Amino acid sequence: MDETALFKLSYGVYICTSWDEGAPVGCIANSAMQITSDPATVAVSINRVNHTHKCIEETGHFALTILGEKSDPKLIGLFGFRSSKDVDKFENVAYSVRGKLPVVDDAIAFISCKVVGKMETATHTVFLGEVIDCGHLKKDRPMTYAYYHEVLKGKTSVNAPTFLKNEPAPEKAVWVCDVCGYTYDGEIPFEDLPDDWVCPLCGVGKENFHRK
Ligand SMILES: Cc1cc2nc3c(=O)[nH]c(=O)nc-3n(C[C@H](O)[C@H](O)[C@H](O)COP(=O)(O)O)c2cc1C
Repeated sequence: MDETALFKLSYGVYICTSWDEGAPVGCIANSAMQITSDPATVAVSINRVNHTHKCIEETGHFALTILGEKSDPKLIGLFGFRSSKDVDKFENVAYSVRGKLPVVDDAIAFISCKVVGKMETATHTVFLGEVIDCGHLKKDRPMTYAYYHEVLKGKTSVNAPTFLKNEPAPEKAVWVCDVCGYTYDGEIPFEDLPDDWVCPLCGVGKENFHRK
């Protein structure tokens, strides 16, 4: 079985949000899809170890903020590789409350949902949400999961359903961010990048990179 065939599935990149006792929380999720149109329902698959999972369970609500190609990629570093258990992800991130849920402003659309069903799998819960509000934000093309990998050079988190343990190594030597997995393979040799260069995904300095 060649599990890399699963890479041929297509997704978007979303911030799945909820509340933790009145404070906004959220994590990156690519595994979201529309299930029915009448009533409008969507599903998202969330790992039980994610703090966001506990908050969706407790509140019975979640929202999907749909990222665009021009959304700040640092949102993915912050929401996709750190936990609300350790950090207030919304401290410096502009958001609005829409359909009773926190929605990140730097995005193209939002879908706020009430949980109406769920299915447990080995590691993730698939939450089924009935849409209670949705709407457009900025004008931009939706960020696809392929764009995240191919253009932004992003990696998949170990907690994502699409994580592959033995992901094939890149053919040429690249520098990998220890925090978010971003791989640098740009034209300028990594050693020649200025000392104040930072990871475009999560914002840490060059000292957090190792050569692969
Ligand atoms: C590109 C990408 C896609 C991801 N997709 C999912 C997903 O679909 N479901 C999920 O549970 N976690 C996914 N993750 C992982 C979570 O975003 C990550 O574990 C996050 O740190 C959890 O934060 P929390 O503990 O504050 O909820 C993804 C991460 C990245 C970077």
